[in-house]
Amino acid sequence: MKPVNIGLLGLGTVGGGTASVLANNAAEIARRAGREIQVIHAAARGLGNDRPDGTGQVEITEDAFEVVNNPDVDIVVELIGGDSPARELVLQAIENGKHVVTANKALIAKYGNEIFSAAQAKGVVVAFEAAVAGGIPIIKAIREGLSANRIQWIAGIINGTGNFILTEMRDKGRDFADVLAEAQALGYAEVDPTFDVEGIDAAHKLCILSSIAFGVPLQFDKVYTEGISKVSQDDVTYASELGYRIKHLGMTRLTNKGIEMRVHPTLIPEKRLIANVDGVMNAVLIMADKLGPSLYYGAGAGADPTASAVVADIVDVTRSLTTDPDNRVPHLAFQPDQINDTTILEMDDVETAYYLRLNAADKPGVMSDITHIMGENEISIEAILQKEPAEGEATATIIMLTQRIREAQMNKAIELIHQLDSVSGEVTRIRVESLSSE
Ligand code: HSE
Repeated sequence: MKPVNIGLLGLGTVGGGTASVLANNAAEIARRAGREIQVIHAAARGLGNDRPDGTGQVEITEDAFEVVNNPDVDIVVELIGGDSPARELVLQAIENGKHVVTANKALIAKYGNEIFSAAQAKGVVVAFEAAVAGGIPIIKAIREGLSANRIQWIAGIINGTGNFILTEMRDKGRDFADVLAEAQALGYAEVDPTFDVEGIDAAHKLCILSSIAFGVPLQFDKVYTEGISKVSQDDVTYASELGYRIKHLGMTRLTNKGIEMRVHPTLIPEKRLIANVDGVMNAVLIMADKLGPSLYYGAGAGADPTASAVVADIVDVTRSLTTDPDNRVPHLAFQPDQINDTTILEMDDVETAYYLRLNAADKPGVMSDITHIMGENEISIEAILQKEPAEGEATATIIMLTQRIREAQMNKAIELIHQLDSVSGEVTRIRVESLSSE
């Protein structure tokens, strides 16, 4: 059978990795795909004579539209990243009747609805396994492996850079800025590292997971997003004393009122496996009604791991070239006419437990004022720690763990605590998830 021709957009870390994996494992990949797969055309800027491994025979251009419009290309692999021109290139490829593979999480999270509907109309596939959790085949696991189940919730450590920072802060007591600089130097971080530390990268990925878990359109603008830049060394230490680890968690849950989609620092009991996922590694914990909990762990970034997912998509598309377009795996897991409009919950309506840390005057009555506010707002306290004032200071640190309560009610209580004369500075609040099977 005639080989399948690939047009590769981008020859950076992931593009170069993909060309190299396709060349190095060519025979094994062809045995799996049933056809030979060859890169015939690639687009990259400022490459000079520095061709990545596996691209020796490939025609290389600076104009990515040349690749997309090349009539000999069967599958366009978009590894440029970002919004534009990635969106225009992918839409043009679809318009030209080509299948698309992409690792671009921002593109799918923000423009996926438009892209999938164009692909549906043209009968082509858009595959995006590498967009979430790098090399972990999590899209396939949810979309195909778990298709017998009703998914209840998904919790993921889906940004390696953020996890690396939190791990180093905990294990080595290192400073936030110092660890971020190292993550950038190691090439884990996004071009704009605020995407990592402020949770935007994780929000892109979470929004995709939520859609394929619950069969709703992609709604990136409804993800509540809070970064890790305010997590202090003290919080990491106190959480540890209470038996928890702080992780930057993406959480999506189907409740009877709607769907939660949120990314924020979260205390997780240290005995959970996912709480022990350290460094740049990613993990996704899925609670499904028939399987129960299942945990998927692996490299969420890097050239070879991400290329592993990109090439798996290329193999899938190759296998599907002879399949009836209406009977392929649907883009968002559910058949296009079965995507529903379940409400995405406002953060005020989300229920979680909380870790609170505040500074208060070390004098009689203060603790009772605080617990009174909690009681008035029906917030039940699970544990309380008081750290005596440091030498020469007048305020003590109070740390509390609460039971689950609506976010709006917690906001009200925090506002009242801020009004107490005895309390100084801001109340630090970190949400807590038990992630238990019950
Ligand atoms: N910046 C991302 C991370 C890369 O650190 O996880 C993979 O999406």
